[in-house]
Amino acid sequence: MVAKYVPEPFRIKMVETIKMLSREEREQKIAEAKYNTFNLKGEDVYIDLLTDSGTNAMSQEQWAGVMRGDEAYAGGSSYYKLIDAAQDIFGYKYIQPVHQGRAAEKVLFGLLMKEGQYSISNMHFDTTRAHVELAGGRAIDCVVPEAGDPSKRVPFKGNMDVEKLESLIKKYGADKIAVVIMTITNNSAGGQPVSIKNMKETSKICKKHGIKLCIDAARYAENVYFIKQREKGYEDKSVKEIIKEIFGYADMFTMSAKKDAIVNMGGLVGIKDDEKLFQDCKGRTISFEGFVTYGGLSGRELESLAIGLYEGIDENYLRYRIGQMEYLASRLDEAGITYQSPVGGHGVFVDAKAMFPHIPYYEFPGQALAIELYKEAGIRTCDIGSYMLGNDPDTGEQLHADFEFTRLAIPRRVYTQAHIDVMADALIAIKDRASEVKGYRITWEPPILRHFQASLKPIK
Ligand code: F0G
Repeated sequence: MVAKYVPEPFRIKMVETIKMLSREEREQKIAEAKYNTFNLKGEDVYIDLLTDSGTNAMSQEQWAGVMRGDEAYAGGSSYYKLIDAAQDIFGYKYIQPVHQGRAAEKVLFGLLMKEGQYSISNMHFDTTRAHVELAGGRAIDCVVPEAGDPSKRVPFKGNMDVEKLESLIKKYGADKIAVVIMTITNNSAGGQPVSIKNMKETSKICKKHGIKLCIDAARYAENVYFIKQREKGYEDKSVKEIIKEIFGYADMFTMSAKKDAIVNMGGLVGIKDDEKLFQDCKGRTISFEGFVTYGGLSGRELESLAIGLYEGIDENYLRYRIGQMEYLASRLDEAGITYQSPVGGHGVFVDAKAMFPHIPYYEFPGQALAIELYKEAGIRTCDIGSYMLGNDPDTGEQLHADFEFTRLAIPRRVYTQAHIDVMADALIAIKDRASEVKGYRITWEPPILRHFQASLKPIK
């Protein structure tokens, strides 16, 4: 049965016209883009689901805040407004604004680890892994095994595998583990949530071994809403109470504010009570980002972020936000289209391997579906599979990813129910002619992060 669409808790005051190209024009555009959706011009896209990061719609309050932004180099009022909001929400003593999530990682991780140490996470996001490695560390993923089965519906598929965590600590030695990172929600596993119970157990293990616990808080509000919906004993707690509890188990957080804080640019580092670490963070912020009271952001961005933090934890908003995902997922259920289920917080990760069983991993089923979605309905998405994973750095051979997903990441407060129906209808139309869809081969690729730039060609 199709889920009831939760009506938008807002109305539209400003609109942005989007172009609707013909199918012929889209076929030409994607060929000109060398079959790489990152090469498409934004204006040639009808519905842009490349990412939910920095693509969200700000409210009238946030835009009013843009006008009020205090552009003082040091000590502006927008900075203090942001610090007050973040301290109030997270309950941490120290907050440092930075320009985005990876900047928070750069500022903090260089202080946490040295050459030869490890970071263990339920799953590192790409930039998180990169900053662990740039700081001399090695990143190990430790998600529960259920995350590997897209059709298995369990409530907290983003969880840390705590038994494996214990055994990894034993294997490498606690002094070799610089930090444990809990990513909420777990983006790489499909926006899957982490339970309070799992957070508590992970925290206990970290405390026992004297290891710091850091939250990657990019989509923390969506995670908290899932806890309220799914975890026993939390249904009557407020979102704010649950946030306080979950952050209480950690020592620090990094946050890309471009997701759940509903701004186009921004990030935060939060430190619970370690004054020395905060002092060191401030030093690195000044070198990499800018003076501590702006951290790479303009006053107007600090101001809209302070407001967005509260809007992102509003329960009516979160009900609509998660409801939108559940509506899209239920339309796919009806059509027998498989995806990482139950649906995550920020989008649908469609199982392209199941849709195109005839396309092998080295002909990139996730990328093939991304291209079909553009041709079918002007929808831009991206591959989260072997195409993104790339080649083995030692042998140069194509790696075989565990999943072949096409990610439909839904920007916040941007698209309506009719747009969501266009997404579902497009996927259904592609499924109906799935056996005709061909794979792709790469004709040019750069040595690292190839998926952003590579050129491809359909296989005849
Ligand atoms: N952590 C997580 C879990 C993320 O999803 C991202 C970004 C970052 C950190 C880095 O933040 O982009 O502000 O520097 N994810 C985006 C995405 C890019 O499309 O999933 P950033």
